[in-house]
Amino acid sequence: MANEDAVRATNDDAAQCKRFAVERGYWEDPFISLLTTKGHASHAPEINRGYYARVWAMRSCIQRFLKLTNCNCQIVNFGAGFDTTYWLLKDLKLSPKTYVEVDFSMVTARKCHQIRRNELLLKTIAGEDGEVKISKTEIHGTDYHLVAAEVKRKLTESSIDTSLPTLFVTECVLVYVDTEHTNNILKWIAESFSVSMFLNYEQVNMSDRFGQVMIDNLKTRDCILSGVQDCQSMESQKQRFTNQGWQGADGMDMSQIYKCLPDLHRIEHIEFMDEKELLDQLLSHYCIVWAWKDPDDLGLYDMTFT
Ligand SMILES: C[S@@+](CC[C@H](N)C(=O)[O-])C[C@H]1O[C@@H](n2cnc3c(N)ncnc32)[C@H](O)[C@@H]1O
Repeated sequence: MANEDAVRATNDDAAQCKRFAVERGYWEDPFISLLTTKGHASHAPEINRGYYARVWAMRSCIQRFLKLTNCNCQIVNFGAGFDTTYWLLKDLKLSPKTYVEVDFSMVTARKCHQIRRNELLLKTIAGEDGEVKISKTEIHGTDYHLVAAEVKRKLTESSIDTSLPTLFVTECVLVYVDTEHTNNILKWIAESFSVSMFLNYEQVNMSDRFGQVMIDNLKTRDCILSGVQDCQSMESQKQRFTNQGWQGADGMDMSQIYKCLPDLHRIEHIEFMDEKELLDQLLSHYCIVWAWKDPDDLGLYDMTFT
């Protein structure tokens, strides 16, 4: 299936871009090089700055959720690819009770392989009691599960607790997923979990010329954006949650978030960039949206970046 191959390949792009920016000094991540091979390509400063803003914003929201719930919670990362958040949170001693990563089996198989051959990654998952079950495509540790899609069935198998506050993370994933399938998952979460939050990073403002160029470029690589209809505006991004029974949804585009970066001065001095307009265009075509179901009023609506 050409499209599924192309969608899976987007993980290699994301992981290579992150590794490249980490090596340039944009942010710290001692684990990315343990999961990804070094790429040959060099990436433009606007790409590195965009990735920095994306990683900073996602980390800020995840940490805020953990603090609001006193870590008495779960995190599910859908389309996790080679994401390293589980290990970074362990280092920060800010871990949820359970952390689940879901992806296509061909992606989880590669992640399993990398984890199995690296003592540090594996030791973290094993924790104190040292119990880890590893198959070709899945890992089950005490508080870590790496599973191959299908999301609902796998979450049940990972002994997810629907009564615990649960954060669902999708970073550049839903745009590749058929709208009906996404709606189905969003509705199921809203109905099944007592307290939940959804954090989604992806494209927005896709109905303009720049958006069309992005769609066309990906099409030439056989990559179809099946979920792009919800990426037309901030309104459509938020409404897809409230339409499926979430209590509320809010968000910001990345050009707004970029202005809130605490160390803007530092990152703007890492590399010289003369294409300021290109960065602005890129940032205004990505966003972070957070949705909540918060009957106990933990404050999940408030993810503002200041
Ligand atoms: C652009 S990558 C992002 C990876 C990671 N979230 C990050 O930001 O570094 C998209 C990921 O979503 C996964 N994905 C897309 N559709 C999926 C589906 N229906 N089920 C499971 N994983 C999916 C892909 O395999 C890929 O790993």
